[in-house]
Amino acid sequence: MGGRKRILTVFGTRPEAIKLFPLVHALAADPRFESRVCVSAQHRAMLDQVLTVVGVAPDHDLDVMQPDQSLDALTAALLTGLGMVMDQERPDWVVVQGDTATAMAAAIAAYYRRIPAAHVEAGLRSGDIRHPWPEEVNRRIIGTIAALHCAPTETAAEALRRETVDPATIHVTGNTVIDALHWITARIAERPQLAAGLAELEQRFAGKRIVGVTSHRRENFGDGMEAIAEAIRRLAARPDVAMIFPVHPNPNVGRVMNERLGGLANVALIEPLDYPHFARLLDIATLILTDSGGVQEEAPALGKPVLVMRETTERPEGIAAGTAKLVGTDADRIVAEAERLLDDAEAYAAMARAHNPFGDGHSAAKIVELLAS
Ligand code: UD1
Ligand code: UDP
Repeated sequence: MGGRKRILTVFGTRPEAIKLFPLVHALAADPRFESRVCVSAQHRAMLDQVLTVVGVAPDHDLDVMQPDQSLDALTAALLTGLGMVMDQERPDWVVVQGDTATAMAAAIAAYYRRIPAAHVEAGLRSGDIRHPWPEEVNRRIIGTIAALHCAPTETAAEALRRETVDPATIHVTGNTVIDALHWITARIAERPQLAAGLAELEQRFAGKRIVGVTSHRRENFGDGMEAIAEAIRRLAARPDVAMIFPVHPNPNVGRVMNERLGGLANVALIEPLDYPHFARLLDIATLILTDSGGVQEEAPALGKPVLVMRETTERPEGIAAGTAKLVGTDADRIVAEAERLLDDAEAYAAMARAHNPFGDGHSAAKIVELLAS
């Protein structure tokens, strides 16, 4: 007998899809596994954007997203739906990634069925349950449950050891986001038209330095978003810069940004970009302003200075490498730090160096071997 190991990979949001497709591709190509994919569709449009580009067709789609969804209603729908899929599939392993509501609920549903869970991107900790909210608690819950912890870095592995996780279950694999970035870069090199949709904006802003912006963190809603908008408004008054800002579809983001920044000549508020186009934006940008987790990992790999508009980070490696800087959500501070990089060539050069603290692009292969053994 022996048979193939049945792996159920569960995800629901854009960043999980980006960070798990390299593993889904690798599992599907490996005869030792029977790979099944369940998407919660906690995100709908942004998830589908990734699935289309990377060619993953889920076996289950729970389609849970509601406009402006609350965390409790979302979590309840996820637990019930994911539990039913697990009862049907009876996998040997459930794989989850990161710190979203989908990942947390999938880990709990697996635990309720005594199915071992593997956690990809394990051990990230800010040390503050208010930032990022609610992700810091989600990942601590998953860390308590998982039977296999795939830590992206030694720092993350050490955080798990400090929490008395069995060291035999902790493995440093790198972050699959680097696998994803390499994959998409190779696809764009083969077919440049995959990322050609920014041409019009690139032409409109020719001669200006591009600042790429993203923002979506729940703990920044309200005052934080207002301050971020104010910083962008002030920076956009400079004739030598243009801001390209793919706006997250959460209504709490768009409302503020459209109100404060709509119609400004040097600000392009655009729909979320698909992954190849976002990779292109990272490529053409001089500087990135973000509160995203994934972007903090991609920017150092590409040597793009990134100002992190958050109070804490669970990704200290980018800061240690010198490519990322925590600037919080105070408008004066964001503007001052951005202007320093725009006006001081030495300060810019000191940050604009490629580092790879998050992996070598072979993380999925390492995780596959861990699941096989
Ligand atoms: C979620 C994750 C967060 C992750 C982020 C990545 C949780 C609690 N939060 O936050 O950790 O960093 O995704 O982007 O798991 N929406 C759409 N279309 C989409 C996606 C979202 O309209 O394709 C809107 C909907 O109104 C939805 C809202 O955004 O209700 C919020 O989505 P949700 O997944 O609850 O939270 P995010 O803030 O996106
Ligand atoms: N991203 C994208 N299009 C965009 C903005 C971001 O494809 O318009 C990608 C980005 O390259 C990164 C991921 O989405 O891989 C980050 O997702 P997000 O910021 O939504 O979530 P977080 O990483 O903060 O959980």
